[in-house]
Amino acid sequence: MSYKPKNRIYLCLAHMSEAGFEQKYIQEAFTTNWVAPLGPNVYGFEKDLEDFVGTQKHIAALSSCTAALHLALLQLGVEEGDEVLCQTFSFCASTHPITYCGAQPVFIDSEPNTWNIDPMLLEMAINDRARITGKKPKAIIVVDLYGMPANWEALESLGEKYNIPIIEDAANALGSYYNGVPCGAFGTLATFSFNGNKIITTSGGGALVCSDEGTKRQAVFLATQARENAPYYQHEIIGYNYRLSNISAGIGRGQMTVLGDHVRHHKHVHELYQRLLVSVEGIEVKDNPSDKYDSNFWLTTILMAPSVKIKGQDSERRIYSDCEPNDNVEALRVWLDQAGIEARPLWKPMHKQPVYKAAPAYVNGVSESLFKVGMCLPSGSYVSDEDVKYIVDCIKEAIV
Ligand SMILES: Cc1ncc(COP(=O)(O)O)c(C=O)c1O
Repeated sequence: MSYKPKNRIYLCLAHMSEAGFEQKYIQEAFTTNWVAPLGPNVYGFEKDLEDFVGTQKHIAALSSCTAALHLALLQLGVEEGDEVLCQTFSFCASTHPITYCGAQPVFIDSEPNTWNIDPMLLEMAINDRARITGKKPKAIIVVDLYGMPANWEALESLGEKYNIPIIEDAANALGSYYNGVPCGAFGTLATFSFNGNKIITTSGGGALVCSDEGTKRQAVFLATQARENAPYYQHEIIGYNYRLSNISAGIGRGQMTVLGDHVRHHKHVHELYQRLLVSVEGIEVKDNPSDKYDSNFWLTTILMAPSVKIKGQDSERRIYSDCEPNDNVEALRVWLDQAGIEARPLWKPMHKQPVYKAAPAYVNGVSESLFKVGMCLPSGSYVSDEDVKYIVDCIKEAIV
C-alpha cells in the first residue's frame, strides 16, 4: 500500500467554506454585538433554510435537533398517557424527547430496502395500539436514516388514513430527496441537525420545519422560555431555552453556501466505495433502492456477510450486552481503527437498548440483523479519493 494518510480519517468532520463565509458572518455578529440567541444571522439562516426546503415552510433555528423533536412533540400536544410510534432503527435522540413529554415510545421496525420505518408494520401497530389502549397513538416519528429518505408515499397516506400527525426526523437528510421533494418537507413537522458531524454544521444546532407561520411563532415562544409579551418576565406555561445563538447561526449561513458541494462530495465518495468494493465478495454498499430515492449519503454504509472472515476475529473481545455486532464486523472495526480509520457499527435499535426494555415494540428482525452486519465508513468532505482507496485496500487486507 503506497498511500498512507497523514491524519486519522474520521466519519464526517466539520468542513468550513474555502471562502471563509462562516468567519465573515461571525465577525459581523461581533462587530454589531449581536452575541445572543437572536439576531440577523438567526433570521438569515432560517431564510436560507426556507429557500432551500421551499414548499412554503417556516423554519425555526434551534440549539439542537433533539430540542426540535421535543418542540415538535409539544406542538402536537403529546403528554403523559400518550403513545408515540417511533422508528426503532435510529439514534436515541429520535426517541428520548418522547419520554421528556412523559409519553410512551412504541418502537416500529424497518423495511429492508430503505432501512426506515416499515409502513406495513406501522399500520399493524396503529391498529393494535388502538385496540390495546383504547386510543390512537398521538404521533409518529419517521427517520431518514443516514440520509436515505423513508418511504414517504406510503407513510403520508397512512398518516392521512388514520389522521395521525407525522414528524420527519431529517437530522441526517438535508440535501436528500424523495420523488423530487426535499427531505425536511414531509410530515406535519420536520427537524434537521447541524451537529458537528452532519452534512453542514453550526457546531451544535438544529431546526424545526413548520407548515405555517403560527406554528413557528409558537415554537419560538416555547424555545425562549415561553416569555409572555409584557415589560417584565411573565410566564404562563413552561418553556425551554432552545434557540440557536447568533454566532452559531453565522456558521450556518456560511455553511449553506457549500451545502451543494458537500452533498456532491458525499455522493461521490459513496459512488467510489461502490466501484472499489463491487468485486469484494460478501460486502455490499447500501444504495438507493429505486429512482424515487435520492440520498445525500451522509454516511456510506456497508453490510458484511457472516461468511467473510476478518483477521483477528477469533481473538477474545469484550462483550457489552446480549445484542452485539458480529465478530467479523467488530474485528474489521478494530482493524480499521489501527490503520487510522474511524468506522462505526450501525445504530443499535432502540428496542434493544436496556433503557427501553419495557417499551412495546413491533419487530420483524430487520434492524437487529442490520445492526449485526453493518458498518459506517468515513464519508465527509475531508475524505479524499486517496483516502477511500486506502480504506478499501485496508478492508481487502483485513479479509482472510
Ligand atoms: C437520526 C438523528 N436524529 C436526531 C439526532 C440529534 O441531533 P442533535 O445532535 O442535533 O440533537 C441525530 C444526531 O446524530 C440523529 O442522527
